[in-house]
Amino acid sequence: MIKNLKKRFPVFKKNKNLVFFDTAASALKVDTMINAVNECYSYEYANIHRGIYELSSKLTKRYEDSRLAVSKFVNSPSFENIIFTKSATEGINLVSSCLSDNYFNDGDEVLLTSLEHHANLVPWHLVSKKIKIISAKIKSTGELDYNDLLDKINSKTKLIAITHMSNVTGSITNFDEIKIKANKFNVPILIDGCQYVPHKKLNIQELDPDFYVFSAHKLYGPSGLGILFMKSKWIDRLEPYQGGGSMIKNVDTDSSTYLNGFQKFEAGTPPIAEVIGLSASLDFINEVGIDKIYEYENELTQYAYNLMIKSNDIKIYGDFSNQTSIISFNIDGIHFNDLAMLLDKKNIAIRTGHHCAQPFMKHFKISGNARMSVGVYNTKDDIDYFIKSIHEVKEILKS
Ligand code: ALA
Repeated sequence: MIKNLKKRFPVFKKNKNLVFFDTAASALKVDTMINAVNECYSYEYANIHRGIYELSSKLTKRYEDSRLAVSKFVNSPSFENIIFTKSATEGINLVSSCLSDNYFNDGDEVLLTSLEHHANLVPWHLVSKKIKIISAKIKSTGELDYNDLLDKINSKTKLIAITHMSNVTGSITNFDEIKIKANKFNVPILIDGCQYVPHKKLNIQELDPDFYVFSAHKLYGPSGLGILFMKSKWIDRLEPYQGGGSMIKNVDTDSSTYLNGFQKFEAGTPPIAEVIGLSASLDFINEVGIDKIYEYENELTQYAYNLMIKSNDIKIYGDFSNQTSIISFNIDGIHFNDLAMLLDKKNIAIRTGHHCAQPFMKHFKISGNARMSVGVYNTKDDIDYFIKSIHEVKEILKS
């Protein structure tokens, strides 16, 4: 059991009664992370990897220690497989662009799913002059159709890019059979872990993807920072995505040579304070315990689900047997935005709309829905208030 952690999140000091159910979009910020970023800018700041003076070398060490902390958090085989980007979206764009330059041949197939959010769709569309996009279906329940996906892996498939956890339904992808078939055809896998990593232990060595992305802002950390895990063989094979300082060996006015290793993907001054902040937010998660977080959030979501299914007019999307922390729903006869606006008047924050996953909405022939998503700071009292408020709003809107 996790004790009430609201006091660790300063927003609740100013807004005591806030009930925040939009963690899937971005998590609230934990005090130690905010302090770490504040200290960094106030007392420790200098550019890194460039100065031989103490301020710079100390912060360079802290920055690289954060890479080690990230590596340990996901059980990466080495810190050298961890690349910092400005967002998870940038991480996927980096991979799609570099694979297009150095790996894909015309007509190669990239297998996606209709469950993806736009960050794992649009970067592939940008290189679609070269590749053919194949999409695995979702079932009427909102679950990934594994049979359809497995059928679509063949000798033309050159990459599979799938979410680890749907940002719409919270359902978790099972990679067991996907990996077996992908290995048979020697197909690399990219996994979008934006939703998964804040809620459940990631063991990257066990999962064994070629590429894995996630973002700091969903881990109670700063925005403006993404993490891209890349297997060493791809780090060696792919050429840089962007050019600039920090990633070069030698520069002349008309040509340059690049560093090997992860450094070749980190051009320019990096998001220094954000990386330091991420390390502090990982310390917080480690203190609480990611397994405990998973258990606690599951309990909360299940509690909310059990109360919501008592109402016949609430339709919940997705199969609830293998998911965590998210409930996506619509209420008969009520527009999701009307619901969200009236909940906001009661200081409850939920996300509504297409959740950056338009193919999912098109599958269900809806323009959007309402999504409540929990974080480590939510409590059963929050859920009780939410359910009571939904009933009150229903009465207002249906009267
Ligand atoms: N992908 C984020 C969400 O699900 C922004 O809301």
